[in-house]
Amino acid sequence: MSYGTIGKPDHVRRAAIMGDYGRARREFSWTHARLELSGLPGGTGLNIAHEAVDRHAAHPARRGRTAVRFLDRDGTVHELTYGELARRSNRFANALGTLGVRPGERVFTLLGARPELYVVAFGTLKARAVLAPLFSAFGPEPVRCRLELGEAAVLVTTPALYRRTVAPIRDALPRLRHVLVVGPPGEDGCSLDALLDAAGPEYRIGPTDPQDPALLHFTSGTTGTPKGAVHVHEAVVAHHATARAALDLRPDDVYWCTADPGWVTGTSYGIVAPLVVGATLVADAREFDVRRWYRVLDEQRVTVWYTAPTALRMFMAAGPEEARRHDLSALRLIASVGEPLNGEVVVWADAVLGRPVHDTWWQTETGAIMIANFAGSDIRPGSMGRPVPGIGAGLLEQGPDGRAVVAPDGRVKVLHGEAEGELALRAGWPSMFRGYLDAPERYAECFADGWYLTGDIARRDRDGWYWFVGRADDVIKSAGHLIGPFEVESTLMRHPAVAEAGVIGVPDPAAGEIVKAFVTLRAGAEPSVELRRELLAFVRRELGAVAPKSVEFAPALPHTRSGKVMRRLLRARELGLPEGDLSTLENAAALTAGSP
Ligand code: WT7
Repeated sequence: MSYGTIGKPDHVRRAAIMGDYGRARREFSWTHARLELSGLPGGTGLNIAHEAVDRHAAHPARRGRTAVRFLDRDGTVHELTYGELARRSNRFANALGTLGVRPGERVFTLLGARPELYVVAFGTLKARAVLAPLFSAFGPEPVRCRLELGEAAVLVTTPALYRRTVAPIRDALPRLRHVLVVGPPGEDGCSLDALLDAAGPEYRIGPTDPQDPALLHFTSGTTGTPKGAVHVHEAVVAHHATARAALDLRPDDVYWCTADPGWVTGTSYGIVAPLVVGATLVADAREFDVRRWYRVLDEQRVTVWYTAPTALRMFMAAGPEEARRHDLSALRLIASVGEPLNGEVVVWADAVLGRPVHDTWWQTETGAIMIANFAGSDIRPGSMGRPVPGIGAGLLEQGPDGRAVVAPDGRVKVLHGEAEGELALRAGWPSMFRGYLDAPERYAECFADGWYLTGDIARRDRDGWYWFVGRADDVIKSAGHLIGPFEVESTLMRHPAVAEAGVIGVPDPAAGEIVKAFVTLRAGAEPSVELRRELLAFVRRELGAVAPKSVEFAPALPHTRSGKVMRRLLRARELGLPEGDLSTLENAAALTAGSP
């Protein structure tokens, strides 16, 4: 279904940072984008923390402006100015030195959005250590796995998360040297507050090569362990340029990014980009709730809101009355990311919230927004938009596995005009990931012929707008979170009753997809309602928020001849879709679901 075009009036176009898309694209260069930042004093390099915090703190007119406005659970508001954030993050950088943390070592956070997060994030970057934020709703198992893969030297967390998530795995992490817990000294770990109080407030950032690693984000593939995507300090050039071009973000904005800081959106656009621009960011300690989110938008006078389609669909489901109770007149731009945004939601927001939603597309690996609908451009509801200035996007001819065909000589076939294919990006933008931790071959497989291959399938219309079609793999997208089926299957198989598991995403009107597991049982275990309940509780405890919402017993799972569970077939059968090419199926009779 087509929702036509939402036109932007002339005054909106003129007021946007990027009013003329064609011209902005023609005139853009990354060299110029870099020159809009200051670089370290004395020409000693480029450091994200300097660009986001210190250069504003050094400026008498900007030092006292609010960088972070934190809304605590009890409703109190705590503010951190740029000057305070500079000094507190200096203290954390000094503290890391005292703890013996060296440049390049990894500092993990398991924190929601709270003031300490920003102090720790920028202190880590100042010390030239690598910041690796984790999703605070992960259970112990995904946290353990990532801390181990990332060779964490330090973990910063809260007392509640320490007890719930870290304590059960602490002994399994001998290489984790320090666990810092926010708040005054307690019984667990080492007190972050005490450490900050003991450290000095002055710090001089050491020489930072723009290519030095800065951020580590884990993402999931179809097989194997999560992949740690490494980003460098130079990424800040793309954070800054795209925050302006795609989010229309300026120093006087009150900006709210609702993503958890453990996901790349919550870091690139929840921590770094708004502060590089010099804006005030709003951080909310509490969980999603439609009514409260309306109140935050209204009471905090949010001007730019970056959120997820799942949240917007829940706004829509809550009806228009709630919107009418609030004054959203401060809101200038709504943008979303992470999963397909239905055109219906864009049109609904335009009518009910008074602003359309600007869909943006990117990935953990791209580090910054690559394709977007812009403040100063019309919107085609349902389309992801057009490539941001400085980004070359293309569609490549697909093979039978859905991925781009790479000829023996390494060449790919680029499709022109109106087309559908694997979405690819010309390699070399500043926030492009520089590697997967300890997996150079996995990294190399992402590139061909000068292109980064995204693994997404997209369509381009005749005017050059991109439309999301699907993913080429079976990674699950639930509420905007990427969930690797392999990680969920491996956890299920640790339960003594489970022989094998196959995990898929099934459509859900709010979350886009929800996780569903099929399991076969070991000899001696019988399917029962109790066992199902026990399995659900087990995965919930181990995995946290990424656990499957339903488990179904199966007498057998379909396998390829090479022994892999055919998730594609499980999904097709679950959804009554065509089963497609079954030539690699090892036993076509498998899977006749048998649940009690
Ligand atoms: C995958 C990347 C970096 C943002 C958070 C997600 C899907 C992302 C859209 C969109 C349809 C989207 C893609 C992509 N995705 N944005 N606007 N429309 N799908 O980062 O967890 O690395 O996931 O999210 O499939 O490949 P991520």
